[in-house]
Amino acid sequence: MSGTDSAESATRLSAHFDATIAHDQRIEPRDWMPDGYRATLVRQIAQHAHSEIIGMQPEGEWITKAPSLRRKAILFAKVQDEAGHGLYLYSAAETLGIDRDELTERLLQGRQKYSSIFNYPTLSFADVGVIGWFVDGAAICNQVPLCRSSYGPYARAMVRVCKEESFHQRQGFELLLTMMRGTEAQRAQVQDAVDRWWWPSLMMFGPPDDDSPNSAQSMAWKIKRHSNDELRRRFVDMTVPQAEFLGVTLPDPELRWNEERGTHDFGTPDYAELMRVIKGDGPCNAQRMERRTKAHEDGAWVREAAAAHAAKQQALRETTKEGTAA
Ligand SMILES: [Fe+2]
Ligand SMILES: [Fe+2]
Repeated sequence: MSGTDSAESATRLSAHFDATIAHDQRIEPRDWMPDGYRATLVRQIAQHAHSEIIGMQPEGEWITKAPSLRRKAILFAKVQDEAGHGLYLYSAAETLGIDRDELTERLLQGRQKYSSIFNYPTLSFADVGVIGWFVDGAAICNQVPLCRSSYGPYARAMVRVCKEESFHQRQGFELLLTMMRGTEAQRAQVQDAVDRWWWPSLMMFGPPDDDSPNSAQSMAWKIKRHSNDELRRRFVDMTVPQAEFLGVTLPDPELRWNEERGTHDFGTPDYAELMRVIKGDGPCNAQRMERRTKAHEDGAWVREAAAAHAAKQQALRETTKEGTAA
């Protein structure tokens, strides 16, 4: 192919990509895509996958301390779902030509991030309920629009993930409702958990739009469909009536309904805190990474055994094939 031919074909591919995005159709793994689009997706999907896996830790701590068999079974199922979400997402990332080992390596070396929210401690069983209600609720706000993301494998993974997230949110809310109908001490425990998790949950949507340089490109590529601030506002609008129903107070004196705008006004999260936590200086960052590293090391024998088994099966198939050929 001459230089002009390849330049022409590059222009054609790029025009085809732009047209696919413009028509709201999906980009699939076999399609040509700009390097920046691929890199953005790898970063976003990996960060999402890591968050699902690290996110098992704060609640996982309460599986052995759950107050009843029913609560233990629910929590078990929820935490296992998160493991499943991590696996779908690592698979979606692999369709972009990067493997899971490499992504895990990047996480363990601190070159890739996970959601800031999982660096906060779970101090009581009410935290399990509040995580389901707020954190899985915020995940729903974030992820429902991702079901229409322009990258096919990511969008399809999100459909099932979102169905499970909605179970997670309900189990959290139902737990809190039960506690709110219990004793004074239980109600106080719920309010305390709400006070601690509210602001970190609002931070989950990321920095404000003015401070989020990659957002505009992600939206132009239709990877993201809504801005950080828009998603944050939707979360607040969704959560306020639920808080009223539960009978808890959201810890924001500026929170009020704005009739004119048809949405809530609310205070500004402490974005300096968000930056500190993202940079590694949150209450539990060191512990989360330590446990993740240990789990990875403890799992080495499983990966080695699986690889040895696969090699043995392959060798066996080849010997059988040779036998048949002879
Ligand atoms: Fe999840
Ligand atoms: Fe979840």
